[in-house]
Amino acid sequence: MTRRAAIILAAGQGTRMKSGLPKVLHPVGGRAMLDHAIDAAEGLGCERVIVVVGDHSPEVRAHVERRLGTASVAVQDPPLGTGHAVLAARELMADFDGQVVVTYGDVPLLKASDIEPVFGDALTVVGFEARDATGYGRLLIDADGGLEAIVEHKEASPDQLKVTACNSGVMAAPSRLLFELLAEVRNDNARGEYYLTDVVALARERGEPTRAVFAPEDAVMGVNAQGELARAEALFQKVRRDDLLASGVRMPAPDTVFVSWDTSVEPGAVIEPYVVFGPGAVVRAGAKIRAFSHVEGAEVGPGAEAGPYARLRPGAKLGEKAKVGNFVEVKNVTMGAGAKANHLSYLGDGAVGAGANIGAGTIFCNYDGFFKYRTEVGQGAFVGSNTSLVAPVVIGAGAMVGSGSVVTADVAPGDLVLARAPQTAKPGWAARFMETMRAKKAAKG
Ligand code: UD1
Ligand code: CA
Repeated sequence: MTRRAAIILAAGQGTRMKSGLPKVLHPVGGRAMLDHAIDAAEGLGCERVIVVVGDHSPEVRAHVERRLGTASVAVQDPPLGTGHAVLAARELMADFDGQVVVTYGDVPLLKASDIEPVFGDALTVVGFEARDATGYGRLLIDADGGLEAIVEHKEASPDQLKVTACNSGVMAAPSRLLFELLAEVRNDNARGEYYLTDVVALARERGEPTRAVFAPEDAVMGVNAQGELARAEALFQKVRRDDLLASGVRMPAPDTVFVSWDTSVEPGAVIEPYVVFGPGAVVRAGAKIRAFSHVEGAEVGPGAEAGPYARLRPGAKLGEKAKVGNFVEVKNVTMGAGAKANHLSYLGDGAVGAGANIGAGTIFCNYDGFFKYRTEVGQGAFVGSNTSLVAPVVIGAGAMVGSGSVVTADVAPGDLVLARAPQTAKPGWAARFMETMRAKKAAKG
């Protein structure tokens, strides 16, 4: 295979998002749009991925440096058009000989498989048939199917405006050819910009082959405003839910379930209505996530059950057939096989042994305002309702904690601990009290 590299354009201002967050860092499926673009480039086997960033967004630059390293950042300052943006990567590509594909950082749904046909001998553009072509560059295709030129909307003649074949923005060409052509691009057009799209006509003039391949319109959709971001999210969700259903996941109300880019649900699991998955969720076969639960960075083991109204936060790990019920929050806690916390609890930082039972209203008091500490509940232990386990603390295997206890010291295996005020009874006191008070009230009228 010829060597491949990608240049991802992300130097636009994104002002129409009206957001403090740079446009390409807005998430789709819980992952920054720019990361989706980088995933696609990597999925195509690009050995080098360069992101062109603007001087105005240090966050984007830092994001790229974290993921790809400093050698992957090209700065375009000021932004003078898409052709000018690609030229910003010229230095970083000087020693590269192979195919270069140009994509955008704000086209989150485009997958490697949609782009793959762009590679070949000719300078090739990924086009799409637009339902509404307004604003897009039009593809002028000759009688032999060759691509003659791309005319931008602003420069198009009335006849050219009728063309519905549009430029997605994705283009591939041999790197040397691309940079040679870009050096010839001028900015004498309606927007005073250096258009990447002008390289098509320039290649033609030189007798270089040029062509267009087509992708579905939904796959190439670009995000410019919040409404489009929401639409991209909806399309993303639809695709992912359909994939899960096709793989054998049971989801009676798929439209109410929200997944993240990396949500993994094994066949045979059940996801009830109104479940939201943040990034990093894994649900094993036979597990059930009941309605209105939120699962993020957590693993639900085979046959385990969470919800309704459970919240599993990062580091929650439910073992086989473990159970977490309504209004239970679990964070950074491993629950062994068959362990249960059925009602109204906070389990944070620790471990619950296999078969242990955590009573309603149990709290792992894991934080003193400065540091976090662990709570360990041994195998088969029984923690009575409304108990506070003040970490660091260990409840031994098979131990029992009396309801309402505030446990501040370790409990040995097999012991019963009662850490609450002892019960006292005053015989007949209530009856006498009520009689006195009733009499007082009656006297007042
Ligand atoms: C561009 C194409 C058009 C195509 C459309 C598809 C050109 C001249 N036009 O138009 O044919 O139909 O995309 O959506 O290429 N960018 C930079 N630096 C710049 C300018 C843009 O990095 O100086 C980036 C933007 O961040 C964005 C992408 O390039 O990700 C596209 O730029 P934009 O100005 O939106 O191009 P369009 O006018 O939409
Ligand atoms: Ca655009």
